[in-house]
Amino acid sequence: MPYGRIKAASLFDKVTTAEQAAQLFKDGMVVGASGFTKAGDSKVVLDALAKRAAKEAIKITLMTGASLGHDTDAKLASAGALAKRMPFQVDRVLRTAINAGEVLFIDQHLSESAELLHNRCLPPVDIAVIEAAFIEADGSIVPTTSVGNSVTFAALAKRVIIEINTAVPESIYGLHDIFQPDDYPYRNVIPIVAPENRIGRRSIPVDIHKIAAIVFTDIPDSPADVAPPDAKTTAIAGHLLRFFENEVKKGHLTDRLLPLQAGIGKVANAVLSGFGESNFYDLRMFSEVLQDSTFDLLDSGKMSFASASSITVSAPCYERVFGNLQKYKDRIVLRPQNISNTPGLIRRLGVIAINTAIEFDIYGNVNSTHISGTNIMNGIGGSGDFARNAYLSIFVSQAASKDNRISHVLPMVSHVDHTEHDVDILVTDIGLADLRGLAPRERAQAVIDHCVHPDYRDALQSYFDRARQLRGGHTPHLLEEAFSWHTRLRETGSMK
Ligand code: COA
Repeated sequence: MPYGRIKAASLFDKVTTAEQAAQLFKDGMVVGASGFTKAGDSKVVLDALAKRAAKEAIKITLMTGASLGHDTDAKLASAGALAKRMPFQVDRVLRTAINAGEVLFIDQHLSESAELLHNRCLPPVDIAVIEAAFIEADGSIVPTTSVGNSVTFAALAKRVIIEINTAVPESIYGLHDIFQPDDYPYRNVIPIVAPENRIGRRSIPVDIHKIAAIVFTDIPDSPADVAPPDAKTTAIAGHLLRFFENEVKKGHLTDRLLPLQAGIGKVANAVLSGFGESNFYDLRMFSEVLQDSTFDLLDSGKMSFASASSITVSAPCYERVFGNLQKYKDRIVLRPQNISNTPGLIRRLGVIAINTAIEFDIYGNVNSTHISGTNIMNGIGGSGDFARNAYLSIFVSQAASKDNRISHVLPMVSHVDHTEHDVDILVTDIGLADLRGLAPRERAQAVIDHCVHPDYRDALQSYFDRARQLRGGHTPHLLEEAFSWHTRLRETGSMK
């Protein structure tokens, strides 16, 4: 056992197996676990809980930072171990269980879970499960590839289980910036005025007496699937890069732009990759996830600094990051998600937020979470934290999918995550609509002119024209027809 990773000898007798640690969970407990976009999650304790739950009746409420890797959500859901889950997930099996009503899911802005816990508006956390690189002499936890909500879980949980992951080198120490705002009414400013500011500790404080079990593992994070750019994502990235170049020409931005946030996925990756070929320089990120493209930009010198809550990269990039930690340490920082996603900081720094929509409508309302208004896909994640408060709030989507049977630009979205008031720019592979300064009737025409797939342009124009003529109003709609594209898809398999 690598006891050297436990700098507090008084904790040696807490070392145990994952199976033994999993015995600490009781039916009905609230568990707060590390893990954010598959990074820094529990590798063995939650897995052991799923195995236990397959044989005995035990259901927990599970809170995390964001999504988990290693199919942990699938294993827990399949074993019937989840009563309630929050604040985000991306798992196919769990999604099915949520949509079947078997698991209750709270889809929450990622900056808000810690707030709600500290304000005691959520049930108290019974047990925290936190992945660590090592434990300091006073019991403080040095986290691994994410910080997520772990600071809050460690502070508020009655007991703490620590998973020391020896796949992560101890030299990760110094990568994290651990800061927690005071509870209300004593909240003060968060003194970050640039992405590179460090304002806190290097480890997560925890009452050493709460540490109930320590488990060792050497399982790395699940790798991110990085889809190579395709024709559509390349077209979207091209529209966006040209837009940024024009903003510079107009004097709205400099060619250093402003701190960037990019959601995960192939479009965000393609856009960030596109910066590699651009004339922009000294770029910074103030985001929640660092992905492969971030490290490409850091290596090429295009990006000078990146701040986030997790590192979620492909297997080769994981090797690259951990093989060169010293090189990156001065240029990246990982923060708690209630800091990386804080609305006040996003507004202060003037973040350019680029997120993906499932669908959007002619007035600029965006649905990021639901298929046909009913079934959850993943969750809102951090997109709302960033979109509402950004200097520029950009949403991207393919114009149409499934052999163009589905249009992603619609008369009315079937679920609203980001209202027209939060959305500045919409981009599809067809083109880009700049909605700033436009009233609803102007926005609709801009979206129809620039974003919709040609197969659907006439139908959308007809909808808008008839809505104006027949109903009028500030935001013209034909309510009896507004969802007909979705119902047609359900009945015929196509929106056409
Ligand atoms: N009916 C049925 N399917 C539909 C549909 C409809 N009305 N509208 C869209 N879809 C399908 C598409 O066909 C596509 O299916 P496919 O995966 O089989 O091709 C899928 O929904 C959407 O996929 P795609 O357009 O490729 O988007 P994506 O994989 O890039 O993911 C989100 C898009 C919105 C689901 C994802 O970005 C997300 O979860 N965002 C919310 C969280 C977030 O923004 N976090 C940001 C910070 S990390």
